[in-house]
Amino acid sequence: MTGSDFTVLPRHVAVIMDGNGRWAKRRGLSRSEGHIEGAKTFRRIGEYAGDLGIKHITFYAFSTENWARPQPEVEAIMHLFGDYLNEAYDRLEENRAKGIRLRFIGDRNGISGELCALMDTLEGLTADMDKVNLNIAINYGAQQEITRAAQSIAADVKAGLLSPEEITKDTITARLYTGEQPPVDLMIRPSGEQRISNFLLWQSAYAEFWYSDVLWPDFTERDFDEALKAYEKRNRRFGGI
Ligand code: IPE
Ligand code: IPE
Ligand code: MG
Repeated sequence: MTGSDFTVLPRHVAVIMDGNGRWAKRRGLSRSEGHIEGAKTFRRIGEYAGDLGIKHITFYAFSTENWARPQPEVEAIMHLFGDYLNEAYDRLEENRAKGIRLRFIGDRNGISGELCALMDTLEGLTADMDKVNLNIAINYGAQQEITRAAQSIAADVKAGLLSPEEITKDTITARLYTGEQPPVDLMIRPSGEQRISNFLLWQSAYAEFWYSDVLWPDFTERDFDEALKAYEKRNRRFGGI
């Protein structure tokens, strides 16, 4: 498919990359091997979304709750994330030619200094790009994100920079990691689970949800097309008629 095969494209797509562990288990592989395959799917679908002309896409790579997993699995995921960062750095010119702006959303505390430095570098070196906004959520939790915004607003009120009456929806939106990016139009969750797992709660206030039983490592461009086709048919009313 190409972007013109769709009558309407979501401005912002969010993807919960779920099912790596079950994919591996079914094959008698370790969970980490599932994450290796999942990382490949992430590269493929990220690329495809950009080719279709999706302007904003956010992938959920690691949640604030995922620290509860066994240490070797957490390390394997962080290692894969590091591989991706290094590859993105090596392919910087290619990504810039495609107009890809990379952003990492989530709490940097808890992420190694080495990875944080690479994340900062990649964000800086792609900050002038605006064709595709590729956000990766790492150590991300929406409740923590909203709490952080509330703290920053409270600090400004205390300092006399803002009065309580001046706080609007936009004040909060602007202080989230996604800042000025548009709200989520389409939320995709594979693997059969139908929950949001602390992902983009504020930004998804009016998102359309699309679920699939496919496990993330098996997720293809055709599945992505299917989600977009379903989105095309949704009647978004935003509370109107
Ligand atoms: C998603 O796959 C990847 C991360 C949460 C990092 P899972 O690892 O959650 O896979 P399942 O849900 O156990 O199958
Ligand atoms: C959500 O998946 C987090 C990511 C995909 C990074 P989980 O597998 O952690 O979510 P739950 O535990 O099923 O809600
Ligand atoms: Mg899971």
